[in-house]
Amino acid sequence: NVSTDQYAIWGQNLNFSVKTKQGGTLPILKNCSIQIPSGQLWMLLGPNGCGKSTLLKILAGLLKTTDGSVYVKKPKSFVFQNPDHQVVMPTVEADVAFGLGKFDLTYEEVKSRVAKALDAVGMSEYSQRPVQTLSGGQKQRVAIAGALAEACKVLLLDELTTFLDESDQIGVVKAVKNSLTSSGEVTALWVTHRLEELEYADGAVYMEDGRVVMDGDPSSILDFINRQQALYINQINS
Ligand SMILES: Nc1ncnc2c1ncn2[C@@H]1O[C@H](COP(=O)(O)OP(=O)(O)OP(=O)(O)O)[C@@H](O)[C@H]1O
Ligand SMILES: [Mg+2]
Repeated sequence: NVSTDQYAIWGQNLNFSVKTKQGGTLPILKNCSIQIPSGQLWMLLGPNGCGKSTLLKILAGLLKTTDGSVYVKKPKSFVFQNPDHQVVMPTVEADVAFGLGKFDLTYEEVKSRVAKALDAVGMSEYSQRPVQTLSGGQKQRVAIAGALAEACKVLLLDELTTFLDESDQIGVVKAVKNSLTSSGEVTALWVTHRLEELEYADGAVYMEDGRVVMDGDPSSILDFINRQQALYINQINS
């Protein structure tokens, strides 16, 4: 299949709706289609409530579509917004190793995978630190290292930088970018509201009202968003 060789993430005419208290159905995703090429970092943008997190959860397999086809390379990992919700172990090294328990690996293999993953996100020197002593951005990087150690091919990342300050924010984006470059076969889809992160992306997808309305290179998406905003401001003023 051509499309699944070329793309790590591929969704066609995805629909998702929820039941309302009144007994009706509320459509959230409406014939939403998305393709993300293998080995690239793409950003997913769009106004609050347009369906970005819902789409990501569908791609992660946490929600089932009403209809449509979806393909995502495996193994895949969904990393959440709040870093304090996922860190479970006392040291950074132990935390990254935690997810490897389900594989049948030797101690040396675990050691080596953890070291490589921490290196990819620039956290090697923190391996013996208690996780509670890390900054928000460092915790996010540890969470990403956990996914890399498990040899995840696809990273689905939902607003990782929302609660971070500027230096932590750019550190996390760079860590993702670097982990893609060093492995060559990891693909990441990154949900964000922060347009300044676009410069680190290979491409971007813009959603509105439950569907993807544009995708392409970061600069054309940025132009599109700026034009949409100008249009909106003109409407308010007239
Ligand atoms: N279980 C649910 N029941 C009712 N409405 C829901 C449910 N899940 C999502 N929604 C609604 O679906 C829409 C899309 O939600 P979603 O969280 O995917 O948006 P988003 O683009 O991630 O927004 P944000 O930028 O604020 O994170 C919202 O209007 C939300 O209120
Ligand atoms: Mg969201």
